[in-house]
Amino acid sequence: MCGIIGVVGDEPALPAILDGLRRVEYRGYDSAGVAVLDGARIDVVRKAGKLDALEKELASHALDGHTGIGHTRWATHGGPTDQNAHPHTDCTGNIALIHNGIIENYLELRERLERDGHQFASETDTETLAHLIESHFSGDLTAAVRAALSEVEGAFSVGVIAAEQPGLIVAAKRTSPLIVGKSDGATFLASDPTALIAHTRDMVHVLDDQVVEIRKDGFTITTLAGEPAEGNPIHVDWDTQAAEKAGYDTFMLKEIYEQPDAVADALRGRSLPNDMLALDELRLAEEDIRSVDKVFVVACGSAFHAGLVAKYAIEHWTRLPVEIEIASEFRYRDPVLDRDTLVIAVSQSGETIDTLEAVKYAREQSAKVMAVVNVVGSSIAREADAVLYTHAGPEIAVASTKAFLAQVVGLKLLALYLAQVRGVMWPQDRRRIVEDLHKLPAMIAQVLKLRPQVRELAEHIANSPTVLFMGRHVGYPVALEGALKLKEISYLHAEGLAAGEMKHGPIALVEDGVPVVAVATQCHVYQKVLSNIQEVKARGAYVIAICSVGDGEEVARHADRVLEVPRIHELLVPALVAVPLQLLAYEVATIRGRDVDQPRNLAKSVTVE
Ligand code: F6R
Repeated sequence: MCGIIGVVGDEPALPAILDGLRRVEYRGYDSAGVAVLDGARIDVVRKAGKLDALEKELASHALDGHTGIGHTRWATHGGPTDQNAHPHTDCTGNIALIHNGIIENYLELRERLERDGHQFASETDTETLAHLIESHFSGDLTAAVRAALSEVEGAFSVGVIAAEQPGLIVAAKRTSPLIVGKSDGATFLASDPTALIAHTRDMVHVLDDQVVEIRKDGFTITTLAGEPAEGNPIHVDWDTQAAEKAGYDTFMLKEIYEQPDAVADALRGRSLPNDMLALDELRLAEEDIRSVDKVFVVACGSAFHAGLVAKYAIEHWTRLPVEIEIASEFRYRDPVLDRDTLVIAVSQSGETIDTLEAVKYAREQSAKVMAVVNVVGSSIAREADAVLYTHAGPEIAVASTKAFLAQVVGLKLLALYLAQVRGVMWPQDRRRIVEDLHKLPAMIAQVLKLRPQVRELAEHIANSPTVLFMGRHVGYPVALEGALKLKEISYLHAEGLAAGEMKHGPIALVEDGVPVVAVATQCHVYQKVLSNIQEVKARGAYVIAICSVGDGEEVARHADRVLEVPRIHELLVPALVAVPLQLLAYEVATIRGRDVDQPRNLAKSVTVE
């Protein structure tokens, strides 16, 4: 997500801000900016693109003030443009602010502020905060920040400066990370320890709903209500590279562990108090959604598997027929499309050329196109009629993990939304599923605790010539995804199969000791999966079964090893089962000494056909 930094000290702030921003570049970003307070004036310089573009722009500005804030933006609301880059200011330019997170009720706040005469200059949720603080400001920035944040719903870590109060940054946090630290002659805030390592290794994690006043001789933490408070002190002894990975050995492992947050972010702000879903980035008229008579899902790789999971949900909840197609095949086979066809394109990067070309083709055939994309403002998002962002944050490792889970969840929201608009689902059924979706982050955190058991299994299978994955219903796309993860990062041969299809050929591959990973979670075909497990077991397979909590004993009668995941609605199970499969691929790859983050022959974004 976004990187933030702030500094108040004896020296000009700009060099420390730029150094901090460079150190958080690894998080991924699409624009950057700084605001420096000099005397009683705030200068703001912002630029779309990388830090080099910002530094070029800064060459023609003299920013000598000793108080400043800086930001690298990963777009969430509004594309990656100069205007949408942070810092954002109020109407007067006397308050400037950086923000990491998502303000859920920004539309409602923005409408109110506009009615009160505030002039907005960007499409961001963040700018709302700058105007909200302005509306509460009467000479005391801390008081204004407290008042503004008490009206805000969502996730934030912010740093705010005011022209009237030189030498002060007011910071605050809810959900998004915020760290403060002090060196000789300066005090800092940042979104993660990496940005501060050059200045201090003793830092304080600010806790939720705390406000920090940062001055050059130190910082004071209080609660949002103004009571004295304390953060969580940490001592960081990682080197810079380890710090970028937040102490994890690889980006992939870090991203696997970020999944509870990624899923929470994908869900954030999308269900209204009246149980209706609001997917406001969709920009597709409800009449258009009601006239759809057929859906295509197009995507590649892991995104294709997320799309396959979605097919089951869309058909079940909306009763619309859904075809799923590998994007590179789609436009070469003359698919039947017309103005009542909805094409859903799924892509993390939003740049995959096969998917982009499929989108262009579908629009030429007058179909409506919705993109489910992670990177805001990417080519697929721009090309589509409507877009739903998955908000998983930047994914650095080549193998997709958190973006895949966010796609699974985003597509579930989309399926529910289609059912809502078309009036084909009881509101109480929709509510129950939305409640289950909100249980996923905590459940995923629980599933991550299986890692030691998964490591043992990985040691057992790491040298097998092949590993088979099988499942039925939504267990089938998860089996495909498990096999893909293992192949791409460990270079071990693997196949994902529909369990019922084994007897039509693939079971010939099974002999003594061949590992078969079976998805055997609770669903209407659970008993059938158990039969399929017995079939491979009878032929010598070493069966690793993933089942629902409470079924372990029964499943263990047929399988060699069992991993249990929490019980949830059967259509949501993929978001849980994918996690031990990611961990399995990860552990096998590390045992085999592979470069997990950059597997051979693969690129993060595939922009050639
Ligand atoms: C697998 C993986 C790839 C991508 C595929 C599509 O771990 O990452 O299979 O899922 O290349 O990429 P996007 O989603 O960017 O279109």
